[in-house]
Amino acid sequence: MDNKNFNKESLVNIANSLMVAGKGLIAMDESNPTCNKRFAQFGIPQTAELRRQYRDLIVTTPDLGKYISGAILYDETVRQRTNDGSSFIDKMVNAGIIPGIKADMGTVDLAGFPGEKITEGLDGLRDRLNEYAGLGLRFAKWRAVITIGNGIPTDTCIAANMQTLAQYAAFCQEAGMVPIVEPEVLMDGTHSISQCFEVTERVLTHLFNKLYKQRIDLEGILLKPNMVLAGVDSTEKNSVMDVADATVKCLLRCVPAEVPGIAFLSGGQSTELATEHLNAMHVKYGQRLPWALTFSFSRALQLPALEIWKGKDENRLAAQQALLYRAKCNSAARMGEYKEGLA
Ligand code: G3H
Repeated sequence: MDNKNFNKESLVNIANSLMVAGKGLIAMDESNPTCNKRFAQFGIPQTAELRRQYRDLIVTTPDLGKYISGAILYDETVRQRTNDGSSFIDKMVNAGIIPGIKADMGTVDLAGFPGEKITEGLDGLRDRLNEYAGLGLRFAKWRAVITIGNGIPTDTCIAANMQTLAQYAAFCQEAGMVPIVEPEVLMDGTHSISQCFEVTERVLTHLFNKLYKQRIDLEGILLKPNMVLAGVDSTEKNSVMDVADATVKCLLRCVPAEVPGIAFLSGGQSTELATEHLNAMHVKYGQRLPWALTFSFSRALQLPALEIWKGKDENRLAAQQALLYRAKCNSAARMGEYKEGLA
């Protein structure tokens, strides 16, 4: 049904540009508490200035635009300036990277449902998105979190989060921004790959039902899901092909072909495994997938660089090289051409 007052062609163009062959996205949209937590891991002072310097390091990495189509920013970064006084948005556009923004306001406990979360941020969202669009941001991201545990996720938690994602997506399309819809089934826990499959299938089925009811134009969205794998504390060990098979099977079952692209979160996987999983999906299923399939990693792209940088200027170049290398590996994986030790 068409009730649209937005420019569909523009949304489709943005979505397709983000999904262009050989490239993927970098999520550099960690909230201040999350960014500070990562900094603390490597002894980096947790200040707004160091967060700015780190984001500057990322967006000024030479040649990053060869492998990265888009970057998801955090509100703080959008209001800061790069070392040379440019806006982060201009710097990215000049590097051939499409700028986007995290639009949710994080998660809180879901009242009455111990162990489950709901994402906040719908209040005032229309105004915030209009401001972001005016600043030149072309897409947005909203992350819903689903936990697997004893008796959870409940249907109530899934329904509440998917409804919220659908409302967010409607506000984005109205503002002319492509919504990246991120329903993350967490890796935390002892669950098996088949439990992850079952929950991811439940979540995605529910999500597309809500998107349909909310009259979302599926050609103008991108999906950012988890890969299907056993929990970090599971005794089960999955091979790379187990993960590729389960993930592609689940996505084929749940994601309409009209959706232009799927860009995975890394979710706490090691950098190497996240790349290998994406690569295996392309090697085995590349020609049969109805949507583009790529990466939208934060940790799996950034952690090696952060570990090298440690907040020190003298490590900046080496950190940029490490970031570029992970971007190159994932770009190769996105085409099914990744080999360990890629030069
Ligand atoms: O919302 C989470 C990020 O966009 C992806 O982060 O790759 O570290 O899971 P991750």
